[in-house]
Amino acid sequence: MRHPHSRTTRRRVAGAFTAGLLCAAGLAAPALAAPTGPPAIPAVTEGLALTPPMGFNNWNSTHCRAEFNEDMVKGIADLFVAKGLKDAGYRYVNLDDCWALPHRDANGELVPDPVRFPGGIRAVADYVHAKGLKLGIYTSAGTKTCNSAGFPGALGHEYSDARQFADWGVDYLKYDNCNNQGVDARQRYRTMRDALRATGRPIVYSICEWGENKPWEWASDVGQLWRTTGDISDSWSSMLSILKQNLPLAPHAGPGHWNDPDMLEVGNGGMTETEYRSHFSLWSVMAAPLLIGTDLRKASQATFDILANEEVIAVDQDPLGRQGAVVSAADGRWVVAKEMRDGSRAVALFNESGTAQRIATTASAVGLPDADAYTLRDLWQHRGYNTAGTIAATVPAHATVLLRVSADPRWADHPPAVELGLDGDPLLEAATPATLTSTVTDLGRTPARRVSVTLTGPAGWTVRATSAASAATLSTGRTLRTGWRVTAPPGTPAGSYGLTLRTSHRSPSGTPVTGTLPLTASVVVRPPSGTSYLGDLPWLSATSGWGPVERDTSNGESDAGDGRPLTIGGTVYARGLGVHALSDVSFYTGRACEKITASVGVDDEKGAKGTVAFEIRADGTRVAATGVLTNAMPAEPVTADVTGAQVVRLVVTDGGDGVDSDHADWADARLSC
Ligand code: GLA
Repeated sequence: MRHPHSRTTRRRVAGAFTAGLLCAAGLAAPALAAPTGPPAIPAVTEGLALTPPMGFNNWNSTHCRAEFNEDMVKGIADLFVAKGLKDAGYRYVNLDDCWALPHRDANGELVPDPVRFPGGIRAVADYVHAKGLKLGIYTSAGTKTCNSAGFPGALGHEYSDARQFADWGVDYLKYDNCNNQGVDARQRYRTMRDALRATGRPIVYSICEWGENKPWEWASDVGQLWRTTGDISDSWSSMLSILKQNLPLAPHAGPGHWNDPDMLEVGNGGMTETEYRSHFSLWSVMAAPLLIGTDLRKASQATFDILANEEVIAVDQDPLGRQGAVVSAADGRWVVAKEMRDGSRAVALFNESGTAQRIATTASAVGLPDADAYTLRDLWQHRGYNTAGTIAATVPAHATVLLRVSADPRWADHPPAVELGLDGDPLLEAATPATLTSTVTDLGRTPARRVSVTLTGPAGWTVRATSAASAATLSTGRTLRTGWRVTAPPGTPAGSYGLTLRTSHRSPSGTPVTGTLPLTASVVVRPPSGTSYLGDLPWLSATSGWGPVERDTSNGESDAGDGRPLTIGGTVYARGLGVHALSDVSFYTGRACEKITASVGVDDEKGAKGTVAFEIRADGTRVAATGVLTNAMPAEPVTADVTGAQVVRLVVTDGGDGVDSDHADWADARLSC
């Protein structure tokens, strides 16, 4: 992973505040002349950001490109109103880096770039305000901002810059960390807090020091939100790694002081719609600021549908202000629950893994009181059910089922929740019938009546039930199990194919209810007998943190085919797989193979960087694992006994320090069958 720009390394300055004089508003104050003790000015910040800020910021879609300009900002404000986003709660329209000229004027004032903002910032603020919206701006707690063009930062100019922002009508400041000259972060961020207060204008203060100084420990009386991580990028692995860093910080969030896992990437194109729905669901369950990071002027209806889901937004904006906490996490099955002011819980069932998995919890595990039954509302389907206490779903790869569960006495108004599932992995060889078993389970307190189930496959496939596909009644906890004989036509190429499981039933009051579970079946090819290079075999699934999995070259990082010869500790290998953590590559072994061997390590292509760990799994059991390997170490030989396994997986994790530079090689990887 590359860094967009270099940063001044932080140096801790010992001691508390340097005593200084309170400067008159409007005058530039040296950075070290911060006032001591509580500021004498009334706390205009009181009541700010009582729920996580919602709005837009241009950075994720434009960076410093020319399309970041007055037209864009006005266009976004127009769309906030026209598309109902304002009504859904989005308020702030925020400008990121590159809005200014590189030099201050003769009076030391900031000058808006006249090409991007011909009318100045005041005009943009007026436009945005006239729509009932608010304007945000950006600068750095350093001598320059983060962009290499070197726009002026506010270090040493806090009071005059804050005054200028207030005069323009700015309502929100994102205060970055680049070029900070090693000045203590608490001091730098407090000085700007005091400068903002001194303006007398309520300005939401967003601390952006990337979590380097653990602001969750000291910034709750400094700003209303603080970034907890480095920058997000528009990729699954970036979103996931930020999620994992932000989740444990839940105890530190609350009204007026939020953890900020960075802005949304929804709509930017680097993730699937399913992944964007997970991103939005998880940010909401974490009570994260919801700052849209895509150019809404070009956004699809699917993007608007995600961003404007009011039931999901209500989870984020719940006035109790709790950040959801992890209830359980195992093998990529995450349960995250958020206490809501009405006593209900928002529950995210998030599947990090690359295949559908059942994720389950209970009403009591998410903190609800004992009750006969609960109302369970699906916030993406917009439908309500009753449950006797089990909260469960088969969740597709990378998807999130987001529910709101309450101990609500009116649970019986809703039909029973019915869970659809499939036992075992849907793997089949072309022209060879395979048996699959579907399950339909009543999770409700009330019975499901006239239950029926169907399974359909692609055109040309035959799918036949081998046992009952209907039941007159399913009572609480009961399952209808149906066997299916599924055959793919001869010559079907190896790959993934969609199957659909559908049910219908009647609630006790006769209401018809339907359910659908999309499934992925894999047509597989039995590996040849003898020893093969894994790089020559088709895989069942393959994920890599950056760029695709490469055959017989290193990962390279971005595009397919950009790798180099696999090289570990100076030794070059002709064959193998090159991946980037987090990675998971699975192969069908059809219970016909015995052994995998490989020489594994961090590839030399990123210099002396990267730490990873390797493991091999046979049908879910770990059969070989290395410790953490660094770039300084030679290749480590691994051997795994995979006798009897249907599927084997080659997994690479990040060594516990994030995925940066984690280029991992499965050199010389061979399978014996
Ligand atoms: C830093 C911040 C980003 C963005 C850029 C602008 O990287 O963390 O969010 O503001 O600077 O240069």
